[in-house]
Amino acid sequence: MTAEKQINKLIKIIGCGKMASAILDAWLKKSVSPQNIYVDDPKPSEWLLEKKKQGLNINTNEDILFDYCFIGVKPQSLDEIKVKLKLLSKKNVTFVSMLAGIKINRIESIIGKDEAIVRIMPNLPAEILKGVTAIKENEMVNPKQSENLAILLEAFGETVKFSEEGKFDAVTAISGSGPAYIFLIAELMTEVGVNLGLSHDEAFKLVKHTIDGAGSLIVNSALGPQKLRENVTSPGGTTHEALVIMMNKENGLSKIFSSAIKAAAKRSKELSKV
Ligand SMILES: NC(=O)c1ccc[n+]([C@@H]2O[C@H](COP(=O)([O-])OP(=O)(O)OC[C@H]3O[C@@H](n4cnc5c(N)ncnc54)[C@H](OP(=O)(O)O)[C@@H]3O)[C@@H](O)[C@H]2O)c1
Repeated sequence: MTAEKQINKLIKIIGCGKMASAILDAWLKKSVSPQNIYVDDPKPSEWLLEKKKQGLNINTNEDILFDYCFIGVKPQSLDEIKVKLKLLSKKNVTFVSMLAGIKINRIESIIGKDEAIVRIMPNLPAEILKGVTAIKENEMVNPKQSENLAILLEAFGETVKFSEEGKFDAVTAISGSGPAYIFLIAELMTEVGVNLGLSHDEAFKLVKHTIDGAGSLIVNSALGPQKLRENVTSPGGTTHEALVIMMNKENGLSKIFSSAIKAAAKRSKELSKV
């Protein structure tokens, strides 16, 4: 564990699959002692089982007074854990739901409107501490709970706080699903590299470090993506030749990205009504 922002809060995780395990891994590396964690999952992730085999000593006392309850089950399993959630009500617990498409008022209908409830939307790069997590708190979350939660969430990346829950459909379409769009770009660029005569390994190594390097430049440069792009595009050069096609108004990437991401946001809206 590094010494940065340690947090001494007791956390229950209900449902510790892929996403919650990525979060737990980050906490163990950065800010939370295993003795502060209790996991409630009849069949947790392979990662957690392996960690336990290696001697990870998380808390096994279900009856302690938890400060935070992270809900990491699939949205369709929410009804199965209603009773467990209800048992934690009126105990000054902050409930943190990562369930895609499940609105705060649905959680309130289970545990009560007077409970502190936070909806978050993390994303997969949390696994390597480079996630970005959207946050929406209900009115019952007090400043101290909010401050400690920020430390917990910043253990695995950046955070963006929202005052309107309605923006979560856009968030889901941008940062929730976003890593998959970049994975697709990596696949396509590798495929084209192979078609141009590179071996798969050569193409993939070039592609993955290009995406990593370009991503780091976007994050670390004072210039925005448009300026960065313009700076590497000489008139009549090779990049220009590709961008003319990619930026074609009729059938270029702008149109494809716009309709694809709007479709994801629409689907998120539909799922939250189910
Ligand atoms: N993966 C992502 O990139 C991502 C991003 C943002 C948000 N999320 C959200 O995170 C949540 C979890 O997603 P995931 O990909 O991590 O799914 P997952 O790997 O299937 O994890 C869910 C875990 O909950 C367990 N579970 C099911 N019923 C339970 C119960 N009654 N009590 C306790 N644990 C129970 C599951 O066990 P079984 O395997 O036995 O069912 C599984 O280990 C979802 O709500 C999703 O919307 C995921």
